[in-house]
Amino acid sequence: MSKKLRWGVLGGGGESLIGVLHRVAASMFDSYQLTGAVFNPVYEKNLAFAEEIGIPTNRIYLDFDTMVEAELALPKEERIEVFSVLTPNYLHFPMAKKLLESGFHVICEKPMTMSYAEALELEEIRNKNNNIFALTHTYTGYPMVRQMKKMIAGGAIGKVQKVDAQYYQGWINPIIHDPKLRATTWRLDPEKSGISCCMGDIGVHAYQMLEYMTGMDIQSVLADLNYLYEDNKMDIDGTVLLRLGDQVKGVLRASQIATAEENNFSVAVFGREGTLKWEQENPNYLYLLKEGKPIQTLKPGNSYNSELSLDGTKLPPGHPEGIFDAMGNIYKGVAKAIRGHAFDKAEFPGMRDGVRGMKFIETVVASHLEGNVWKSI
Ligand SMILES: NC(=O)c1ccc[n+]([C@@H]2O[C@H](COP(=O)([O-])OP(=O)(O)OC[C@H]3O[C@@H](n4cnc5c(N)ncnc54)[C@H](O)[C@@H]3O)[C@@H](O)[C@H]2O)c1
Repeated sequence: MSKKLRWGVLGGGGESLIGVLHRVAASMFDSYQLTGAVFNPVYEKNLAFAEEIGIPTNRIYLDFDTMVEAELALPKEERIEVFSVLTPNYLHFPMAKKLLESGFHVICEKPMTMSYAEALELEEIRNKNNNIFALTHTYTGYPMVRQMKKMIAGGAIGKVQKVDAQYYQGWINPIIHDPKLRATTWRLDPEKSGISCCMGDIGVHAYQMLEYMTGMDIQSVLADLNYLYEDNKMDIDGTVLLRLGDQVKGVLRASQIATAEENNFSVAVFGREGTLKWEQENPNYLYLLKEGKPIQTLKPGNSYNSELSLDGTKLPPGHPEGIFDAMGNIYKGVAKAIRGHAFDKAEFPGMRDGVRGMKFIETVVASHLEGNVWKSI
């Protein structure tokens, strides 16, 4: 029986949005043991949360630097092997950098860094140290997303000629119209969030998804962003035209002011011989459209799915799985990589996705600010 990987967590405390998703995902295939953490910058809150979820408090540290120092002082067979960085964006780079330099494997939330320059620096460090680095573009973990990728690669819809990704949320609507609230959320603070809110937070998921699905690089973009108020420095909505090649074009639409929308992320890839469509709010259905034929609906767990898709399904067909399972599949892939087992590169996004994602964010903002002009990525 293989033993569990010793796992450390940074951020993701009780009040956070994303912490529970990572804890459930890490426990899903019995591969990780939560060994130590700094869940919160306030030590008392950090300790209290560890007690609340019932983990030993002897490796709940005062802060990140103390944690790295203390873990490095332990014998290798006791030391944490892999860390998840689940903090606000501005801490991803300094934390991931120090962890990679210190020989730990890293699972990092997106956006990977605050700038493209930082992303390149992180890539260089990872290449030097050869650690496993995963970036949690969660949606790539869904079985039907993986199936869509494999079907496109296998020629099911022929040569790709158009792509369309939409990511609509409405959560920032009540915040943006309140001057006090919009001045205090970290997501609208460039010091903590980076140069973009909407494109940096969800536009980058859509961008990564299109490249993941098609296996093609987006080569250039033309963006029109919306900030709504003059005192707001961050985009909260935008439309981006895309070119993936001379005759492969598309559009990416992302918004956090799409009033009352929840997490309406959908992606369509149009080929010469058919179309594939997937929607995050109904993730167990993949639609295949062919001219002159009824729409086909593909579902997880059926033997017609690819090996990669089936590897991400735990139960027989008809037992719906969701976002926790998608993140669980990413953690499963990372565990395989750390243990040196065979894995498909499509099991988890990594450094290249992070570097290209940061380039996308910077290029989109530049395209908008320079007067809605085409810029290459
Ligand atoms: N993959 C996805 O689909 C997805 C979804 C939501 C959020 N995210 C990303 O996850 C990250 C966190 O987002 P969130 O919504 O959970 O944020 P949040 O504000 O809800 O939680 C942030 C957590 O980090 C902790 N923290 C802050 N400073 C810290 C420090 N110095 N040391 C240790 N912990 C610290 C806070 O105490 C809190 O627990 C962001 O980068 C966000 O972009 C990704």
